[in-house]
Amino acid sequence: MSGAPGEGGRPQGAWTRRHLLGLRELSADEIRFVLDTAKGFSEISTRSIRKVPTLRGRVAVNLFYESSTRTRLSFSLAAQRLSADVLDFTKESSSTSKGETLIDTARNIEAMGVDVFVVRHSASGAPHVLSSKVQACVVNAGDGAHEHPTQALLDLFTIREKLGRIDGLHVAIVGDIAHSRVARSNIWGLTKLGARVTVVGPPTLVPARFAELGVEVCHDLDKVLPDVDVLNMLRIQRERQGNLSFPSLEEYTRLFGLDGRRLARCKKGVVVMHPGPLNRGVEITPEVADGPNSVILDQVSAGLAVRMATLFLVVQAKEQQQAAALAALQPPPIEVTSPDAAASVPSPTPDPETASP
Ligand code: NCD
Repeated sequence: MSGAPGEGGRPQGAWTRRHLLGLRELSADEIRFVLDTAKGFSEISTRSIRKVPTLRGRVAVNLFYESSTRTRLSFSLAAQRLSADVLDFTKESSSTSKGETLIDTARNIEAMGVDVFVVRHSASGAPHVLSSKVQACVVNAGDGAHEHPTQALLDLFTIREKLGRIDGLHVAIVGDIAHSRVARSNIWGLTKLGARVTVVGPPTLVPARFAELGVEVCHDLDKVLPDVDVLNMLRIQRERQGNLSFPSLEEYTRLFGLDGRRLARCKKGVVVMHPGPLNRGVEITPEVADGPNSVILDQVSAGLAVRMATLFLVVQAKEQQQAAALAALQPPPIEVTSPDAAASVPSPTPDPETASP
């Protein structure tokens, strides 16, 4: 595999994981390492030819069991920019409808020679299970309400680009925290990098037990507005809820929607984020989503660099592990121990300079 990103400085540290399954298990140093690697890759998007040979000859498969626009396209483009071949699997047009399981599907695709699976699934833990069944790398592109690590990494990358740091910032994540994998991954990433996090929303969507994750829980958006550096607005995930967890969308918008009036009560340079898809007029008004504080499209651009970094790092780790395993299989050099064996080894040719007559 040819070397890392751009021509600039290499990030310090190391990455040894073959899979990226969540931010919960990563150390602060590992998170910083991915962000630094992504910074190097972001430069490639500014070139006239936006492609490097880093993953030439490798194969990435998008295994998406749930719908997606941004994440799937972003992973595909990231793999293509690294010159990998990309295969796209979608549940609707596959043998899943004929009863095939995720593991069987993945192992069959793997038999064609695959280096990395990018997996999105409605079941929490599906990518973890898959990672124990295949030789290829597994990257979690969102599993149920559990984790969405590359979304959180791109959110961290965007905050760092805009505000220069994560440590010491106050970030409010607003909305449907209970059903959100984006919220969980953000909570792990932000707290590990030293941010203060407040989760905000109605009690039915923001249970008090979230405090166990090291965040503050608040049910009054207006109270936190003047104090926060970043507002991350989330969608109401109707598809993961049974009944609506509050009286009406209108009431939700009145209490927790971000509009110009509420934005005016924030610090001047507050950064407004949203992972998409946006429900304009519900959690955020168009004037705020398209306004000067919004970094929503910067998040999408950052996603490409973060996913290039992720694919590069996991495939590199896999290939290093395979090379080390192969080296361990080589027979050890023959050691001569017994005098008999020593006698049978021909003595080296005497050096005419030093040999005694
Ligand atoms: C999120 C997701 O799918 O978890 N979107 C995304 O990946 N950009 C959030 C959402 O669906 O609301």
